[in-house]
Amino acid sequence: MIDTRPVTVAVVGYGYWGSKHVRVLSGRHDVSVVVVDESEERREAAATHHRGIGTASCLADALDVVDAVILATPPTTHAKLALTALHARKHVLVEKPLATSAADAENLVAQAAESGVTLMTGHTFEYNSAVAKLKEVVSSGTLGRILYIDAARLSLGRYQPDVDVVWDLAPHDISILSHLLDELPSAVSVWKQRNIGDRFADVAYLRMYFERAATHAVVHVSWLDPCKVRRVTVVGDQRMAVYNDLSDNERVRIYDSGVDIRGFDSEGTARTMPVTYRSGDIVSPYLYFQEPLQVQDDHFVDCVRTGARPRTPGERGLDIVRVLEAADAASASGGVEPVRGLVGVPPG
Ligand SMILES: NC(=O)c1ccc[n+]([C@@H]2O[C@H](COP(=O)([O-])OP(=O)(O)OC[C@H]3O[C@@H](n4cnc5c(N)ncnc54)[C@H](O)[C@@H]3O)[C@@H](O)[C@H]2O)c1
Repeated sequence: MIDTRPVTVAVVGYGYWGSKHVRVLSGRHDVSVVVVDESEERREAAATHHRGIGTASCLADALDVVDAVILATPPTTHAKLALTALHARKHVLVEKPLATSAADAENLVAQAAESGVTLMTGHTFEYNSAVAKLKEVVSSGTLGRILYIDAARLSLGRYQPDVDVVWDLAPHDISILSHLLDELPSAVSVWKQRNIGDRFADVAYLRMYFERAATHAVVHVSWLDPCKVRRVTVVGDQRMAVYNDLSDNERVRIYDSGVDIRGFDSEGTARTMPVTYRSGDIVSPYLYFQEPLQVQDDHFVDCVRTGARPRTPGERGLDIVRVLEAADAASASGGVEPVRGLVGVPPG
C-alpha cells in the first residue's frame, strides 16, 4: 500500500534554487511546506507565489512543526544549519556541496547516524534521466574503452558570494562522472583563475584520474563565459557519446564515429596521415524526461516516510567534498593531489 501520510518540510532559503524546491514540493497534495528565509522580502515573495504557505525567519522557529528540512542556503551556511536540524532529529536534504570542508561533512554524517535520521545530498543530476541513459550507454560497453571524458559547465554568472566556481559548479560534474564510471576520482589537478572581483576564482579546469576505468576526465567550469554550456562528452575507442543538458529532445547522442590507425604497406605511405576516420550513424535514444529536481525531492519524501537509504546519502556528499578539498590542495601545490579518505559509497 502506498504511504501518503502528510509530510511537512521546511525549505530553508527561498532564493534561486530554494524557490524551485518549493514549487515542486507544493505541487504534491501530501506535502506541506514552510519557507524559512532570513530575508523578509524573500518570505513575502514565497507567500505571494504560494498562497497559504507557512513562513519563518529562522530554522529554529520552524523545527517544532516540520518532519524534514531542505537546505538551499549558501554553501558556507550548510554545516551549521544541518547540524541544528539533525540534533532536532529532523531528516535533512542539503543542497550541494554538502559542506565547505570534509571535517564538517563528516560531522554531519556522524550526527545523522546518531540521531537515526536521513541525511541526503542534493546531487540533482543523479536524478536526471539523461544522465541515467548515458550511464547505461557507458556501462553497456557500446563506446568501447573510455579514452577520456570532457565536461563543460559554463555561463555568464551566477557569481556566488561565499565559494569559488569549483565549489559551486564542479560538484555537479564530479557527481555525474563518478556516477557514470561507478568510481570516484583518485587524483586531481586544477588550474583556476580569478578574473572579476578580488575573492574567488571564476574559471577553472579540473583534471581527474579514475583508476579502475584507467581514464582521465577534464572538467571546465566558468561563471565568465558568453555561452551557456552544460555538456559531457565521453570518447570511447569504438563510439562517442554526448550529453547536452540544454537540448530539448536529443539530450544524449551516440556517435558511431572514431579514428583507426592505418597500416603502412610501403615506404610511400609513410608521409600520409597515419589514421583513417569512421563516421556512421548518430543515434539519440528516447528518454522519458521528468524534472530531475521533482524526482529528487519525491525520493527524499519517500525516504522520510519509509526510512529507506537515499540514492545520494550524506556519505556521497562527503566523498564529493573530499574531491573538492583535493582540488583546493592541488591548486595550492600546483601539482596532482590524491583524493584521500573516500567513503566509496556506490553511486545510486
Ligand atoms: N542542485 C542544483 O542544481 C543547484 C542549482 C543552484 C543552486 N544550488 C545550491 O542551492 C543553494 C542555494 O543557492 P542559490 O543560488 O539558490 O542561492 P541564493 O543566494 O539565490 O539564495 C539563498 C537564500 O538563502 C537565504 N539565507 C541565507 N542564509 C540563511 C539563513 N541562515 N537562514 C535562512 N535563510 C538564509 C537568503 O536570504 C537567500 O534568499 C547552494 O548550496 C547552491 O549550491 C543547487
